[in-house]
Amino acid sequence: MKALVLAGGAGTRLRPITYSFAKQLVPVANKPVLFYGLEAIAAAGITEVGIVVGDTADEIKDAVGDGSAFGLDVVYIHQDAPRGLAHAVLIAADFLGDDDFVMYLGDNFIVGGVTLLVEEFRRTRPDAQILLTKVSDPGSFGVAELDAGGRVVRLEEKPDEPKSDLALVGVYMFAAAVHEAVRAIGPSRRGELEITDALQWLIDAGRDVRSTTVTGYWKDTGNVADMLEVNRAVLESTEPYAAGTVDDASEIVGRVRLEPGSVVERSRIVGPVVIGRDARVADSYVGPFTSIDDACSVTDSEIEFSIVLRDASIRGVGRIEKSLIGRGAEVTPAPHVPKAHVLVLGDHSRVQISSARGEV
Ligand code: G1P
Repeated sequence: MKALVLAGGAGTRLRPITYSFAKQLVPVANKPVLFYGLEAIAAAGITEVGIVVGDTADEIKDAVGDGSAFGLDVVYIHQDAPRGLAHAVLIAADFLGDDDFVMYLGDNFIVGGVTLLVEEFRRTRPDAQILLTKVSDPGSFGVAELDAGGRVVRLEEKPDEPKSDLALVGVYMFAAAVHEAVRAIGPSRRGELEITDALQWLIDAGRDVRSTTVTGYWKDTGNVADMLEVNRAVLESTEPYAAGTVDDASEIVGRVRLEPGSVVERSRIVGPVVIGRDARVADSYVGPFTSIDDACSVTDSEIEFSIVLRDASIRGVGRIEKSLIGRGAEVTPAPHVPKAHVLVLGDHSRVQISSARGEV
């Protein structure tokens, strides 16, 4: 069995962060979301992995290399533009051959991994096995309609009027029959070759398409709220680790991971929290479910339920919550009266500033 990992796509919902790098490399608890997927694939006993890359190919290659760090043998397959998940299967045909494979979307996060799913597929050998989960906004996903016996009868990609609340999770298992399907279908409304349509083609051709409904945790990390939620879920199982330096005037409460070279001075850190290598927290409060990446500095500030990417600095600001702060970003107060907000924001940035208009 092989794995096909999709790590192309533009990541429009994570702009502006994704203007400068791949959405699959946005860190969750200071580790790129893609790495959790690669670890899950390795844990399922799969070693041959093809990663489909697009515009951000160089960064993905820099991060993953030949895969040996994960115990994997990785090859890269170039997709010239985001032409759909079924298109990715089409261009990976040589790599996949006639082998069974698991297709894993690089921005999906599946708590508990894929080992049991892969084992079930190997045991039952259908033509395709999909995962479904209940969501509150099915129109944002591929949606499955099941018959009374629980068999998949229809699949629709991002329907205007979803027929159920069962969304397709971004992990699919296929036998070789899928190759005929991806060659047979045409582009969708949005101009892509949809894997959803390839699955529908298999169903219509009377092939064996099975579904498993997962109730465990799954997230498509395509937007900021979901990233923060995945970060929270991963930090829940953080083990305390104290390779950093903490002065006597600081207090560390709960499960806090302090990477080597990190420094905490005159601060209170309430876990679960991870603080990266060479990061410095001084005269500050860092609250639960916060990931501070390598070489960041947080000074005279409060931050909670947030992700801060490497080299960012936060200085002298009140409380920051529910925020995703990009690499090298600087958050500082406006220098003096008259009070005004001074902003240099990237395209598509979103900032919520609390100030009563009358006071400015
Ligand atoms: C893709 C699939 C969709 C699936 C989703 C899961 O959507 O097309 O069927 O439900 O992944 O993450 P995309 O993230 O490309 O919009």
